[in-house]
Amino acid sequence: KPSQFGVAGLGVMGVNLALNIADHGFSVAGWEFSPKRLAAVQAEKPYERLKTTGSLEEFVGMLERPRRILLMVTAGDPVDQMMDRLAPLLSPGDVLIDGGNSWFQDTQRREKAYREKGLRFIGMGVSGGEEGARHGPSLMPGGPAEAYEHIRPVVEAIAAKTDQGACVTHVGPGGAGHFVKMVHNGIEYADMQLLAETYDVLRRGLGLSPDALVNTLAEWNEGISGSFLLETTLQVLRKKDPETGKPLVDLVLDKAGQKGTGKWTVQVSLDLGVPVPSIASALDARNLSAMKDERVAASAKLPAPQAALTDEEKQHLAAWTHDALYAARVVTYAQGMRLIQAASKEYQWNVSLAELARIWRGGCIIRAKLLTPLREAFTQQPDLPNLVVSEAFAPVLTRMAPAWRRVVGTATRLGIPVPVFSSSLAYLDSYRSAELPQNLTQAQRDAFGAHTYQRRDRPEAGFVHSDWS
Ligand code: 6PG
Repeated sequence: KPSQFGVAGLGVMGVNLALNIADHGFSVAGWEFSPKRLAAVQAEKPYERLKTTGSLEEFVGMLERPRRILLMVTAGDPVDQMMDRLAPLLSPGDVLIDGGNSWFQDTQRREKAYREKGLRFIGMGVSGGEEGARHGPSLMPGGPAEAYEHIRPVVEAIAAKTDQGACVTHVGPGGAGHFVKMVHNGIEYADMQLLAETYDVLRRGLGLSPDALVNTLAEWNEGISGSFLLETTLQVLRKKDPETGKPLVDLVLDKAGQKGTGKWTVQVSLDLGVPVPSIASALDARNLSAMKDERVAASAKLPAPQAALTDEEKQHLAAWTHDALYAARVVTYAQGMRLIQAASKEYQWNVSLAELARIWRGGCIIRAKLLTPLREAFTQQPDLPNLVVSEAFAPVLTRMAPAWRRVVGTATRLGIPVPVFSSSLAYLDSYRSAELPQNLTQAQRDAFGAHTYQRRDRPEAGFVHSDWS
């Protein structure tokens, strides 16, 4: 009997997704390139419903038609190579799904190329790591709507579930799914950096012990700030090194890595002219952290400010940081959503931001309680220009801003870097400023380069030039 679904590439993510699909009653065929890896998977012999092979021809032959194949190989060239190998073996109407973190422009190109061959291609963001893949990821498929209908029963079955349904939706055509996953990761970078800054302010600034820090953050996690990344932070902070008994986090070298999706988010934002300073600052923070040797050398030459906390700060810094974290997170999501909105317009994807908030509420890395009011905001007003002015969040931001300013002020005085707290605040202050000093910028441009400017008192005159000498 033919298998109902195929998974090509049986790395950890591929196997876990295959097992998840099998758990939901679908028979699955798996293909793996590396004989060693295939032997390891076969040795586990996990399921009756998962049949595996090292032959691509055999794999394709095992599948019921029209075929549904999930490709789980490294993003980049391997995807094109696999598509080239698979294309001659497939039949019209077969659906190939790329589940990697692919660059969305590649997905646009690949979707078109397969469409021209009579095949169907879906680029699907998969979030939730190994655990999510096995027990319920958040899935962001993009591509032809009718191709989505064909894979829908499977992806709805395996996705994480919340009281708002399965965490999967047809994001839009072409590369929409991979674009949205990329921005998800950009938000992930910023949220992780905000948690790192929170940790630094409370530990180095306020001097909380690791245990006290855990207690504080655990309390926050029960309230409106609850999120998967906050839970992960707690999990990390609680862990003691079995050998030394020290908090394991203290033994981790402070150099952050990255695989590129955060950088892509910032690159695209520059191309589309949509500011995402929270994400850009988080990316820079990782890049700066990587300069460990230089930082160590510089620390001897550039002493930290001699400053101590005031009694007021000692008393309130933790509570202020709670509000700063929540508000800065809202601003981060606002930037990410705005970027998706701009791309959706540019590429005519018609992405529903309310639907995204719904499918990010479970399974994915950035799942957080605040996605519930965020979804409501975009449900009430789908074309909301910016989340920060929504009825749900504008009053909250106004209420929390004073505490947020205190955190940035205190950290700055102590010399503790808070790049995402401060750049997010600057974004909010810029966005809510009816007047910005770019009149000066325009005047400078005109003064040194005759780039012209518009007059407030004579809009009808259009762009004019003055002699500034
Ligand atoms: C997810 C994650 C996952 C991964 C990224 C980011 O949604 O499950 O976002 O895709 O964590 O690859 O990783 P880097 O921090 O290494 O760039």
